[in-house]
Amino acid sequence: MDVLVFGSAIVDFVAYANRLPKAGETLHGHKFMTGFGGKGANQCVAAARLGASTAMLGDDTWGNNYLEQLRSENVNVDFIKQCKNETTGIAQICVSDSGENHIVIVVGANNLLSRDDVIQAKVLFDRAKVLICQFETPLDATLEALRAFNGISILNTAPAVEDTPVDLIKSATILCLNETEAAITTGSEQISTLTQAKVAMEHLLEMGANNVIITLGAMGAVYARREEPETFIHVPAVKVNDVVDTTGAGDAFIGALAYFMAHYPEFPWHQHIGAANQVAAYSVRHPGTQASFPKLDQVNKLTEFAWYEI
Ligand code: RIB
Ligand code: NA
Repeated sequence: MDVLVFGSAIVDFVAYANRLPKAGETLHGHKFMTGFGGKGANQCVAAARLGASTAMLGDDTWGNNYLEQLRSENVNVDFIKQCKNETTGIAQICVSDSGENHIVIVVGANNLLSRDDVIQAKVLFDRAKVLICQFETPLDATLEALRAFNGISILNTAPAVEDTPVDLIKSATILCLNETEAAITTGSEQISTLTQAKVAMEHLLEMGANNVIITLGAMGAVYARREEPETFIHVPAVKVNDVVDTTGAGDAFIGALAYFMAHYPEFPWHQHIGAANQVAAYSVRHPGTQASFPKLDQVNKLTEFAWYEI
């Protein structure tokens, strides 16, 4: 088994409008759709259907539909639980014409994922090459999952919290977050330049991270490794002119990163990240979250990706 996801499954209710509403404003949208989302399940599906997943779902119709959906994506659902009397996690998402979004999540049953679930799924933890966790499920269980795993672990600290427990940061092989989350985690101003991203990476290494990847939307991603603490690398993304919906692009990146790390361990990091950038770029050109993730033959994984020292 390649990729194990310990995390969330959420149903997305997506309204498309010309722009995002201001506080207190009611806006007409022009399209509505529901989709299968949640950062955990998104990342799992993006990992080219090669992983197994453990997640929490409610016991209503949405939960049943979601399980069916994951099965159809060839995800191992042996350790997904449906919880009595809990609602399935839901996300209210607004997407503007320029592809930006606002998201409010109510994680519902995802809140019940526990340390016990880690112990029960030991067989998966022993077999996986890469583990992915996020912050849509309880932090103590996530810490347990990271500690129980010996392979490459990717911790996506999303949605970001202001006081990220240092134990969590230290326990993951790779801390992966976007520019907004990096600003919240390091308590800094908005990050919009490579220099600011470099400062944030330095800060995250100082906080105890072993390796850091910050995704920067259209600018691609940057990374730093404890092994070479003076070296900061930028891997630019291909330019996308027809952005439709950026929801889940970060998840596409992380799922793809896990897949490429599991399958091509001999590749250098800039190749893994360049390939993951391509998967994310594909996803923003199509509506929805999981609905917009590519198959392997829809991206050119063997390109020689450019990288630059910052
Ligand atoms: O990262 C995108 C995801 O965030 C959406 O699918 C939504 O469910 C929220 O979890
Ligand atoms: Na998309």
